[in-house]
Amino acid sequence: KQRMILDADTGIDDAIALLYALLSPEIQVEGITTCFGNIDVEQATDNTLRLLKLAGLENDIPVAKGAAHPLVRTDVRFSEHVHGHNGIGGAELPASNQQVIRQSAAEYIVEMAHKYPGEITLVTLARMTNLALALELDPGIAGMFKQVVVMGGSVLVPGNVSPVAEANFAGDAEAAAAVFQSGMPLTIVGLDVTLQTLLTRHQLGYLLEHAPAAKQPMVAFLRDSLEHYFRFYQEANHLIGACPMHDLLAVLVAENPSLVTTQNLHAFIATEGEQVAGMVVTDRRAKPHVGRPVDFCLGVDGERAISRMMALFLSEYPV
Ligand code: BDR
Ligand code: CA
Repeated sequence: KQRMILDADTGIDDAIALLYALLSPEIQVEGITTCFGNIDVEQATDNTLRLLKLAGLENDIPVAKGAAHPLVRTDVRFSEHVHGHNGIGGAELPASNQQVIRQSAAEYIVEMAHKYPGEITLVTLARMTNLALALELDPGIAGMFKQVVVMGGSVLVPGNVSPVAEANFAGDAEAAAAVFQSGMPLTIVGLDVTLQTLLTRHQLGYLLEHAPAAKQPMVAFLRDSLEHYFRFYQEANHLIGACPMHDLLAVLVAENPSLVTTQNLHAFIATEGEQVAGMVVTDRRAKPHVGRPVDFCLGVDGERAISRMMALFLSEYPV
């Protein structure tokens, strides 16, 4: 099993990504760290704890609360229009008795990097504030992860919060820039591939009809939370009856890199300019030298990715 830490601003697609990781027999979720983003960090943390309860894992997996705001910028913008007032499309999750651990997300990331050097896969599904803070605490952790898989950015396709920037990178551009600068081994799962990884209403209907009884509460949660998300993507992206599984794809790639094709490009993150901050700038010249070499996912078998997720929700295999 792969040891994984997931960092999330637990919104709709984060929740699906977390459930997938919790269900996968290939993944050992060591802990979950939370961050502001789609909603504030209190709501993201509450959603995470409740999700663990839904999965029957209350008090089994440590949750560390993270950043409430970006490193330096003061313009925090939540995404209630995408994820609903509570971040999970208005769906209700069962109350949990689990408490967060006393360490902050950044402290927990540092601690785990030292506890299992070279063994942890860190998957970030939100602003990279917690990881940037962890690097501030201990720059030495840059070389201590097995892999760092990041949902964020776009290279060849436009952004989603500005013409050139994606939400997770734009929401804390300085944090993203610091993580790129650190020289960590990064695999970037951006809009280039997540917009090709679509869950359809038809597939959701199939899950509702065929998932075994033990998985039905989770599938019912998918139904309740995804309605809002389907509607947003219809209005914003003209997707009819389909929505991108951004965060889920990052977890899937961490588990199974053969789902994507990557290109190693020198890159840095722009931090200036209202429309430009958070943009991934790649140096694709003949002799690239600006920025750091990073693996960008540019091709994906979206159907295979979604069918892996479907298979897990359909299987009798227990959590
Ligand atoms: C990213 O932003 C959030 O809305 C999603 O959860 C995902 O992490 C997509 O741009
Ligand atoms: Ca997210």
